[in-house]
Amino acid sequence: MSLLTRRRLLRRAALSATAAGAARTGLAGATLAGTTAVSVAGCDSPPERNTDADPDGGLRFPDNFGWGAATSAYQIEGAAKEDGRGESVWDTFSHTPGRTRNGDTGDVAADHYHRYAQDLDLMRELGLRSYRFSISWPRIQADGSGRPNQRGLDFYRRLLDGLHERGIAPMATLFHWDLPQALQDDGGWENRDTAERFADYADAVFRALGDRVPAWLTINEPKTVVQNGYIWGHHAPGHRDEAAAYLVAHHLQLAHGLAVQALRASGASGRIGPALNLHPCYPADDSAEAAAATRLYDGYENRLYLDSIFKGAYPQDVLADLGPDSRMARGVRDGDLKIISSPVDLLAVQYYTPIYVTGGGGTVRKWPTSEAEWQQIYPEGMYDILTRVTRDYGRVPITITENGLPCPDTPGPDGSIDDAGRVSFLRDHFAAAHRAVRDGVPLESYHVWSLLDNFEWAEGYDQRWGLVYVDYASQRRVLKRSAHWYREVIRRNGL
Ligand code: FCB
Repeated sequence: MSLLTRRRLLRRAALSATAAGAARTGLAGATLAGTTAVSVAGCDSPPERNTDADPDGGLRFPDNFGWGAATSAYQIEGAAKEDGRGESVWDTFSHTPGRTRNGDTGDVAADHYHRYAQDLDLMRELGLRSYRFSISWPRIQADGSGRPNQRGLDFYRRLLDGLHERGIAPMATLFHWDLPQALQDDGGWENRDTAERFADYADAVFRALGDRVPAWLTINEPKTVVQNGYIWGHHAPGHRDEAAAYLVAHHLQLAHGLAVQALRASGASGRIGPALNLHPCYPADDSAEAAAATRLYDGYENRLYLDSIFKGAYPQDVLADLGPDSRMARGVRDGDLKIISSPVDLLAVQYYTPIYVTGGGGTVRKWPTSEAEWQQIYPEGMYDILTRVTRDYGRVPITITENGLPCPDTPGPDGSIDDAGRVSFLRDHFAAAHRAVRDGVPLESYHVWSLLDNFEWAEGYDQRWGLVYVDYASQRRVLKRSAHWYREVIRRNGL
């Protein structure tokens, strides 16, 4: 696939993403432009099984397996103007008319900032062993630099103490997309200096909270910032500039490496790694063209982020495709790859969907999609990506930090929420992860996305991804059927 072809593909994706008004990833946009018609899997009618795993086969996970759930700051906290929090790009974006469904914002979200104690109790009720959350940069540094805001740090200290009291291991993400707006005004991730600012912020957080956090994640899904934020423009900051996008990719990777170095320098003992959304890419047919296009697609989706961190080099095919004069190529300085490939302690994998690539560089759907039309339900993809990462990048400990399904989740007459489709989805993905463990993948933990229903970015509050239902009018929480089921999985340490 030449650069030109890929450009065309990307442009097509952008167009259909806009038309759909809901697409989340390049995959989604490109898929909409594709040709394969698919059925949409209903959440109350369990999706067709795509796995050979037997759900009743009594699968046991390794002792001390870290069953968990995940959230992120802007999606749940609310309290957007409290205790010295500054504005982030997502405040700006969500308050811009037409950017999010129904004009929804994260101003209140699930009000977790005020209700965190109740949410901690819910985690205990579920029996969670691990909780993956993110720290809001603009709570710690309102304008992205300078002395940390003590009130912001105190919130996370209270949260961490609460986790500790309940015997739940914290896993803290430093950046889940809420860049301080002041840094965006200075060029955001297009500006190399933002990576340095991120390292300073990370250092302040390590020094303040390092004694309480055993595991850190640097940047959540850099690829989504690149694609959704800078190519398709349906995430903050809403740009459509492919040339800038890959420079952004480099600066995000640089920020990751600098944060790893900052942790080591701070003397904190926690482990650290990247949080990457990986997409297994498959040829849509048997042609040599589809095989070649899939290889390059895999470069953009996976190797751009994995190779730089684990091999200290960007993939040659992607660099060649972007061209020697690309803004990214010109932005890479001597020594950058050494920083980016600073040794990490763990790799966080986020898996939602596979990608099927045609000879022409387009994509098609092969499996039923969920309410998030970019998501094809294919549990085997989880097995494939986990085993591939271990095969190609060595035995770095792996944690799954996101995997889940959106469902309509309307309460029944008795108030209960019967999300049978989510139970079926999780069971099949847990089984696929179990097979990967059996086949040698050093998987330590699994965090379902998400603990709570929350602000799903451009989709606002329309899509519900939680194990726990949130009635946004009253902020009442209700455990869905999947939450009750998950509690049993955790209790039995398996299926
Ligand atoms: C991931 C994001 C997470 C959530 C899920 C559905 O890409 O990291 O915040 O939106 O998708």
